[in-house]
Amino acid sequence: MKEPFKPNILIIDDEASICESLQGILEDEGYNVATACSGEAGVRHVASEPIDVVFLDILMPGGFDGIETLRRIKQISPDIEVIMITGHGTFELALEAGSMGALDFLGKPLSLDIVLAKVEEAAQKIERRRAQLTQENSEFERPIIGTSRPMQEILAKIRQIAPTNGRVLITGESGTGKELIAYAVHNLSPRQKAAFVKVNCAAIPTDLIESELFGHERGAFTGASSRRIGKFEQADGGTIFLDEIADMSPSTQAKVLRALEEHEFERVGGGQTIRVDVRVISATNKDLEAEIQGDKFREDLYYRLNVVPLHLPPLRERVTDLPSLIDHFLTRFCRENQKSKMLVHEKALAVLKGYSWPGNIRELRNMIERLVILCPHDTIRVDNLPIELNHRDNLAQISTERPLREAKSEFEYRFIQNCLETNGWNITETARQLGIERTNLHRKMRQYDIKR
Ligand SMILES: Nc1ncnc2c1ncn2[C@@H]1O[C@H](COP(=O)(O)OP(=O)(O)OP(=O)(O)O)[C@@H](O)[C@H]1O
Ligand SMILES: [Mg+2]
Repeated sequence: MKEPFKPNILIIDDEASICESLQGILEDEGYNVATACSGEAGVRHVASEPIDVVFLDILMPGGFDGIETLRRIKQISPDIEVIMITGHGTFELALEAGSMGALDFLGKPLSLDIVLAKVEEAAQKIERRRAQLTQENSEFERPIIGTSRPMQEILAKIRQIAPTNGRVLITGESGTGKELIAYAVHNLSPRQKAAFVKVNCAAIPTDLIESELFGHERGAFTGASSRRIGKFEQADGGTIFLDEIADMSPSTQAKVLRALEEHEFERVGGGQTIRVDVRVISATNKDLEAEIQGDKFREDLYYRLNVVPLHLPPLRERVTDLPSLIDHFLTRFCRENQKSKMLVHEKALAVLKGYSWPGNIRELRNMIERLVILCPHDTIRVDNLPIELNHRDNLAQISTERPLREAKSEFEYRFIQNCLETNGWNITETARQLGIERTNLHRKMRQYDIKR
């Protein structure tokens, strides 16, 4: 049976007693509840944690008042349902909050029944919206998960560059989220209502790519039985996403360069010059500078495309994002498979954190989907994980081009870190398992700068 959706709740109020009593009431009903004692703290919390419903005091001293806090929360995520808490003489403010998208307002003193009814109403509203999204199957409207420093920096950069027409070059290993980020740039830009047109340069045969990009006139070549509008034209007013750009042939590179320099091109087999207004975002998982060195990619095109570089680090370099990514995919796939929300056992999480994720977030997503379908209980344990994860410390992952001494140190470092995580950072237990003294373990942790 499908469990009812339990939203994550945040209470923002400068009065500690309100926070405490409201938290108590909601936790007794099984909700996950956090509190913040100021608007600023609340906004920070919303920016870093998956919150669905906020109770927000309308009058708070200093910094952000309720209205400013509401505005910022809606900016971070318009889908968060906000219930304002109002006192005497705040009727006008409450009206303003309503016009800014607050769900409702509750007067102090709060009534238990009304509080619970409001949360229920908010939960249903969110569920309806999500069900609709799933139906539309629009993956792109889904959030970009990531609170790690590199992801926060990328998100900040996206917000900064989205409103401009700056060309963006997104690099990163396969499965790191390049397409998701490209769409986010488009979706946050003034071009959002126009088309986002994707071209996978690697998937289109070389002799067809020019017609794919620029279109062709009837009879331009054998098989061109009618006029075709190319991707650049389809994207007029919007964004074109050139994926896998390192795979373009030299002649296509030359044509793309001209289209970028002059904002114009001709359809294949046509004399008419076509002008378009298109923002270009491109992506590759190859090292373009190396491709330039090897004469495979035009340097002038590289500089045209790479106005704003965005590099997505591999998942293994942002393991702090793993818990929230796992939670995000668990929520999604449990819902899609009509299962109640599953959990990951602490030790299994430690194993997942230690794995190198060569296929990055796509690999994680697929693995979680498989686990949701196949795991017989609602907690995923170490023995449910694919076998290769449990052998993660194999030598294959340690780069071979270095002295044995260094390789040994790396192995020792990873091995100790993994044992500590598996044992919940219990020093005595880890030292026992490793067969060394506790003092020796402490010394090694200092040596390798291993911290919880
Ligand atoms: N930060 C993220 N939060 C949530 N989902 C993500 C995130 N990054 C990637 N994904 C999901 O992981 C999958 C792979 O992402 P995407 O297709 O954008 O990667 P990519 O870098 O374009 O991969 P490739 O190089 O193989 O084309 C998608 O399902 C995407 O929605
Ligand atoms: Mg991609």
